[in-house]
Amino acid sequence: FLFILFSMSQDEGVDSDDDDTSLSSYGSDLSSRKGYSANLSVFLPLPHKRTGSLLSVYSDAGDFGNVEVQGSVEFAVMYSPVGELIIMIEQCQDLAIADPRKQRTDPYVKTYLYPDKSRRSKRKTSIKKWTANPVYVESLRYKVKREELPDKTLNLSVWHNDSRGRNLFLGQVEISFKIWDWGHEALTWYNLQPKVHCLKCFFKMCYLISGGSKNSTGEIHVWLREAKELRRLKPQGVDSFVKCYILPDTRKKSRQKTRIVKKTQDPVYNHAMVYDGFKTGEVSEACCELTVWDHNTLANQFLGGLRLSLGTGQSYGKKVDWMDSMDEEIQIWKRMLANPNSWVEGELPLRSSMTPRK
Ligand SMILES: *[C@@H]1O[C@H](CO)[C@@H](O)[C@H](O)[C@H]1NC(C)=O
Ligand SMILES: *[C@@H]1O[C@H](CO)[C@@H](O)[C@H](O)[C@H]1NC(C)=O
Ligand SMILES: *[C@@H]1O[C@H](CO)[C@@H](O)[C@H](O)[C@H]1NC(C)=O
Ligand SMILES: *[C@@H]1O[C@H](CO)[C@@H](O)[C@H](O)[C@H]1NC(C)=O
Repeated sequence: FLFILFSMSQDEGVDSDDDDTSLSSYGSDLSSRKGYSANLSVFLPLPHKRTGSLLSVYSDAGDFGNVEVQGSVEFAVMYSPVGELIIMIEQCQDLAIADPRKQRTDPYVKTYLYPDKSRRSKRKTSIKKWTANPVYVESLRYKVKREELPDKTLNLSVWHNDSRGRNLFLGQVEISFKIWDWGHEALTWYNLQPKVHCLKCFFKMCYLISGGSKNSTGEIHVWLREAKELRRLKPQGVDSFVKCYILPDTRKKSRQKTRIVKKTQDPVYNHAMVYDGFKTGEVSEACCELTVWDHNTLANQFLGGLRLSLGTGQSYGKKVDWMDSMDEEIQIWKRMLANPNSWVEGELPLRSSMTPRK
């Protein structure tokens, strides 16, 4: 799974200590990020097309204990002949204020060298006090064989060391060393990114042949497995469920829902949904809309969503606002169309805001 970011809006993460029992949640609009461009052959987050306009009916407000990700971090990556990967952390700039009341941020930088997510893989800089522009000039080192580097991914994150032991996520950068120019050892600025919301979905589509191929109809099967790292709206975790429509059909009858999975940021739904009656060609006009909600007795709160379609902006010749799929959302729909009768699988980042359907 490649780390891909697209449209998200404000909010972030809380970490219980610096120990990754991530209570986290996140999102932030990449388009509003200012700054520096890294010019390296690394896997950088895709730019996203959606504008920053907040059209969303689905509100993002009310996150628990989060700050908005902003700012950037400067570091260099090098491989030394003695078999060490060295991350030279120079400084950060324009970090979020973690404690607005005291106008205080005590930032430190933490790295992991994935796929090892254990404590052994953790490195940290010192903590700088009362500054959104900390200067570290510290190197974090990993013993690693050169030939293993292409399998490694650097996860670098910035945290606020909170006095109550609740460290706050301030942003992250992820770099895959699959394609990396090891000759480039210069310090480079990277924009800090919010965490990603993921949603794993499995799709199956099959055309049931009845009365010749001209007349066949098919079914779309959606098998929704799980969501990951949902935004934390309440201290005890969210009670989430997923709603599914195959647009343009918005009738209540065609809406399907998973059960509510309680008190977790990483719900497993394992829920299969079937929509039938699609004639040849109709699937290209349709869009599968999945939205994740926090269940509340008063009003459910939007946590994230996906629209899977060809993203053409129109359906049956009419312009529609919901055919706005992008990148991976389009790819999975194309793959599904190209592979009838077999599952195509996707693990896609949730959008944290969606334009409402008119
Ligand atoms: C990177 O590490 C941080 C801190 O452990 C974690 O919260 C975050 O989810 C990781 N990011 C990715 C993309 O795995
Ligand atoms: C990135 O590097 C390429 C080739 O080295 C160069 O042509 C291009 O202008 C650079 N872009 C930026 C934004 O620095
Ligand atoms: C970080 O926070 C802890 C409390 O959670 C505190 O004991 C420690 O002194 C802080 N570290 C620094 C360098 O301020
Ligand atoms: C197509 O289906 C309809 C009803 O579903 C049926 O009446 C018709 O005979 C079928 N045509 C062919 C060519 O099989």
